[in-house]
Amino acid sequence: MPLDPVTLTDPPLILRPFEARDVPAILDAATDPLIPLITSVPSPCDEVAALAFIERQHERLHTEVGWSLAITEGGQALGQIGLWVLPQKRASVGYWLTGSARGRGLAGRAVKRLCRFALKDARIERLELYVEPWNEASWRTAEKVGFQREGLMRQYQYVGPERRDMYLYSLLPEDLPSR
Ligand SMILES: CC(C)(COP(=O)(O)OP(=O)(O)OC[C@H]1O[C@@H](n2cnc3c(N)ncnc32)[C@H](O)[C@@H]1OP(=O)(O)O)[C@@H](O)C(=O)NCCC(=O)NCCS
Repeated sequence: MPLDPVTLTDPPLILRPFEARDVPAILDAATDPLIPLITSVPSPCDEVAALAFIERQHERLHTEVGWSLAITEGGQALGQIGLWVLPQKRASVGYWLTGSARGRGLAGRAVKRLCRFALKDARIERLELYVEPWNEASWRTAEKVGFQREGLMRQYQYVGPERRDMYLYSLLPEDLPSR
């Protein structure tokens, strides 16, 4: 059965399905050194490819892969956040912001809102997150939300052409602050 679309709010942030007006944020992300390596944002990218990316995000619901949402503020897309469904009521979380939206703690707010949806509404019982050790902005974001580091997964996955070590983080319902 397809997953239901959702829109999640934590003013001024709104996490909502991608729309055609989000193309500029995808074009911006396509120029980031990391985002195209860890997501399906194509690089190089043009408007047609960005629209195809948006279409793929909508398909994630139909294929029951998970929820892929635009992180928006005042109508403008600033990034993406995804909740990817795994077996045994587990799911993993991934996120990025465009360069100009960074440095304001917005990813943490978006992650916290998505985790609340996952654990309280989507009946997920364990959330996971994989972060490279050098990516302190990302693991600090995760830790602020309550994720706990479980260990280092050696040579866990390809990032571009290279296998990389990854910290494994998890979040259980009791780890999430009430607000
Ligand atoms: C990870 C990302 C979403 C965080 O964005 P953000 O919400 O703007 O994060 P912030 O800049 O507010 O930083 C979060 C924390 O990390 C710290 N931080 C930021 N940049 C840092 C750096 N280069 N080195 C060390 N710490 C850093 C901040 O001080 C903040 O910590 P604090 O709240 O304890 O002060 C953003 O950097 C990004 O999109 N990166 C590229 C994609 C990516 O890495 N995605 C995650 C893959 S696992």
